[in-house]
Order: sequence, then structure tokens, then C-alpha cells
Amino acid sequence: MGSASNGSDASTKPLKFLIYGRTGWIGGLLGRLCESQGIEYVYGSGRLENRSQLASDIVSSAPTHVFNAAGVTGRPNVDWCESHKVETIRANVVGTLTLADVCRERGLVLVNYATGCIFEYDESHPLGSGVGFKEEDSPNFTGSFYSKTKAMVEELLKNYENVCTLRVRMPISSDLTNPRNFITKIARYDKVVNIPNSMTILDELLPISIEMAKRNLTGIWNFTNPGVVSHNEILEMYRDYIDPSFSWKNFTLDEQAKVIVAPRSNNELDTVKIKNEFPELLPIKESLIRYVFEPNKKTSKA
Ligand SMILES: NC(=O)c1ccc[n+]([C@@H]2O[C@H](COP(=O)([O-])OP(=O)(O)OC[C@H]3O[C@@H](n4cnc5c(N)ncnc54)[C@H](OP(=O)(O)O)[C@@H]3O)[C@@H](O)[C@H]2O)c1
Repeated sequence: MGSASNGSDASTKPLKFLIYGRTGWIGGLLGRLCESQGIEYVYGSGRLENRSQLASDIVSSAPTHVFNAAGVTGRPNVDWCESHKVETIRANVVGTLTLADVCRERGLVLVNYATGCIFEYDESHPLGSGVGFKEEDSPNFTGSFYSKTKAMVEELLKNYENVCTLRVRMPISSDLTNPRNFITKIARYDKVVNIPNSMTILDELLPISIEMAKRNLTGIWNFTNPGVVSHNEILEMYRDYIDPSFSWKNFTLDEQAKVIVAPRSNNELDTVKIKNEFPELLPIKESLIRYVFEPNKKTSKA
């Protein structure tokens, strides 16, 4: 944003983060990261759709940056949003836009954990081609209500020069006991599809989002590790590093469609932009091994 984008604010004022999503997965991890890095932070107590509560959070905490890890993703999964459309709009549309607007009014950068599940492989970006969707591409997947509203909000947020939109996909963390972790999810399913996708290793990328705030970066960012990994490739790593007796069954997209309500997005995102800013960012399979499977290794795999 304007004068903030040159980083001058960050260099003169000590950092203080205001974070939404205290009870959530990403919000919780973010608070722990701030603690480990010695960054002062507070969690917002307002509901996203309540403008006056957000304004009073900002007045009382006087942050240098605001992070939004709040929103509804549905429990047990995004199918919930199909039957709770107004609740989904309230948090993910009205709420996110209200927070962006309040932050803009006060000259604050908002780092927004959004989603990359707004694209699906198409003729110009076929599966296996290595051609990913770029930051400037418009969403082409509106198959689920969750994705549809997230795509609408992304389009609107483009007009907010204070917002940093991070397109997160199929987040993975080193905590293999967490049921939200993509690895834990697919390891527990009766049957899984097998499709290469872009994914976000949180242990590597959440610290990068803090660095992005320090640099006052804004705009849209594909927030995934470079490259793709398939369900089977992940489960093979799981078997090799964690549980040699682990086995699984695959099914087709058509068979999957019978056990879910809304279609799911499968895609590859282009990572040239984030890789230029953070050249050390690891390709997805290397990141999986470094941040998830090596630290959790239970087998004798070398
Ligand atoms: N997990 C994924 O698979 C995934 C994938 C891609 C992108 N993302 C995005 O990343 C963000 C965070 O995901 P997550 O997995 O950490 O979610 P999560 O674990 O479900 O946590 C969501 C958080 O949002 C808060 N919240 C919900 N509605 C709110 C509202 N109206 N006002 C204030 N707070 C509200 C919840 O607090 P209460 O309990 O108080 O409601 C909770 O702290 C979401 O926007 C999601 O779309 C997630």
C-alpha cells in the first residue's frame, strides 16, 4: 500500500500483530510463531462482520499489521457451507470485506489467509502440464459454495491496495495428529482420489507470511510450495516414513462425487512470484520430507 510498501513503517515502529482466528488451526499456529520469534501480538476478539468490534480491537491494540486467519471452512468439511449459505457469506464475505475496509481506513496492511481452491485444471492449464494458474488469473472454479464465495471476495479485495491475499491450498503441517491436516485427512479416509495438486506446507510458509508482513507486501500471492504432489505420493511417503503396514484404496472422481455434496477443486498454482521473493522456498516434495516426514519419522528409512 502506498507509502507502506517501501517498508519504511516496519523499520521505524516495533512490530505488533493483531490476529483473527485465535481458536482456529492457522490462527493458533501463527500466535505460536510470533511467540517463538519474539513478535508482540494479540488476538482480535471481534466478530469479523461486526465493524465496531473490529474498530475497537484496532484502537485498543494499536497494531502495525493485521492478520486474518478467521473464516468458516465447514465441519466436518466444506459441504457444510452448501447448507449454511448465509453463515458462510456472513463470515467469509461480509466479515472479510469489513475487516479489509476497516484496516484500509486506518492505513493498515491486512495479511489475509485466503484459498487457492478457486481454480480447476482446464484446457489452458491441463493436469500434468506444469502450467499453473497465475496470480492475475480469474477464478474458474465455483463448484462449491465455499469456493464460489471465496472467488467473489478475492475479486473484490483486488480493489483494496492494503490487502495481501495469500492463496493457501490443502494445508499440511508437521502435526500429524491434527484432523485438519491434509495428510491426516487422507490417511483416515476409506478411499481417496489420486490427483496431483499444489499444496501449502504451513511449517515453511507461515513464517514466510510473517516476513511478507514485515516487507509490507500486498496484492495476490499463490501461497503454495512449487510443483504438485498427488494423494498417492503423499500416502507412499506416509507408509515409508511413518507406518510400513499402512495401505489405502483409491477411487475415481465419479465415485468420490457420490460420497460428497459439492465438487472439490484440483489445480496447480504458478509459484514464480513467491519464489522470486523467497528463493529459498522448497519444492513441495522436498518440503514434505524436510518439514513433515523427517521430523515424524518412525521407520528406519534412510
Ligand atoms: N484448512 C483448510 O483446509 C484451508 C484451506 C485453504 C484456505 N484456508 C483458509 O484459511 C483460513 C483459516 O483456516 P483454518 O483451517 O485455520 O480455519 P479454522 O481452524 O476453521 O478456524 C477458523 C477460525 O475463524 C474464526 N471465525 C469463524 N467465523 C468468524 C467470524 N465471523 N468472526 C471472527 N472469527 C471467526 C473461528 O473462531 P470461532 O470458533 O470463535 O468461530 C476460528 O478461530 C480460512 O479462511 C480458510 O478459508 C483453509
